[in-house]
Amino acid sequence: MTYRETDKEKKYAQELRKKITRLKKSRNAVIIVHNYQRDEIQDIADISGDSLALSQAAVRTDAKVIVFCGVHFMAESASILNPAKVVLLPVAEAGCPMADMITPEKLRAKKLECPDAAVVCYVNSSAEVKAQSDVCCTSSNAIEIVKSLKNKRIIFVPDRNLATYVQSQVPKKEIIPWSGFCPTHIRLQEENVISTKRLHPEAEFIAHPECQPDVLALADHICSTGGMFTYIKKSHKKEFIIGTESGMLYKLKKENPQKNFYLPTENLICPSMKLTTLGWVAHALEYMVHEVKVDEQIRQKAKRSLDKMLEISGEKKWMAVSGY
Ligand code: 13P
Ligand code: SF4
Repeated sequence: MTYRETDKEKKYAQELRKKITRLKKSRNAVIIVHNYQRDEIQDIADISGDSLALSQAAVRTDAKVIVFCGVHFMAESASILNPAKVVLLPVAEAGCPMADMITPEKLRAKKLECPDAAVVCYVNSSAEVKAQSDVCCTSSNAIEIVKSLKNKRIIFVPDRNLATYVQSQVPKKEIIPWSGFCPTHIRLQEENVISTKRLHPEAEFIAHPECQPDVLALADHICSTGGMFTYIKKSHKKEFIIGTESGMLYKLKKENPQKNFYLPTENLICPSMKLTTLGWVAHALEYMVHEVKVDEQIRQKAKRSLDKMLEISGEKKWMAVSGY
């Protein structure tokens, strides 16, 4: 059953939206929103998208303050790339559990074990881990990044599922995966997809590479959250099973009203992504909290990994803007 807002709640939300609009103007702020955020947060976005698109957007904006509605590593990446701007994460506790599955100490030990290997870190990682990596990647460019490296062996951290997927697409390299995973995407089981396909035999199954290998083996297309919007918009198909976090459905339905979308399980909810509410966004703008800042030495090293990713992805124009 879908929850319906009461009139009192609707009025309260309306007042919060007005407050956010007013504060945004007075603070010269921009609201950047990840595709997994609550519907009402997506509605107040100046820019929404996947991790890569949001980092790029954070650099391009003229605003002085960036309110990052997402999780900590995303706001941290924005801060690494924009040290002169104030980057606010409305809920300080909104972390990504996968990013916490690797520490800089453990990565250092792994590098000593495999001195010939390059280190590729998924953007879902801390600034310290990025600082120790050769290059970053996102789910939209991981294959391209790995292919571009001269090293045969690649330590790939922290997502083992993305690592396994990349290995399947780049068999000439030897990917040494870390053991991390996304606690939300692993809730999607093979049988959920099979039973949803049985109910909707015409539907295409589109999956995020953080899903487990047996789930990915059932996918018609594998891509980032941003890639899903592009693929579905172009597709002549009318029905899609979405193998990623539930927040995706809001904008997918809005942008494609003539198409139908199905979630294979109701468990695809990232608790961290859902922490951000209109109340917390208004609070962030009013009190200028919680600012995300990175130690300057670490920031410079981490920026190198992010800049290299963007260079390989052909973002030369973007690099000029970022002051590379
Ligand atoms: P995207 O870069 O595809 O948006 O993925 C981010 C993420 O955290 C997926 O769980
Ligand atoms: Fe992290 Fe998974 Fe949430 Fe993405 S969906 S932010 S990987 S916990």
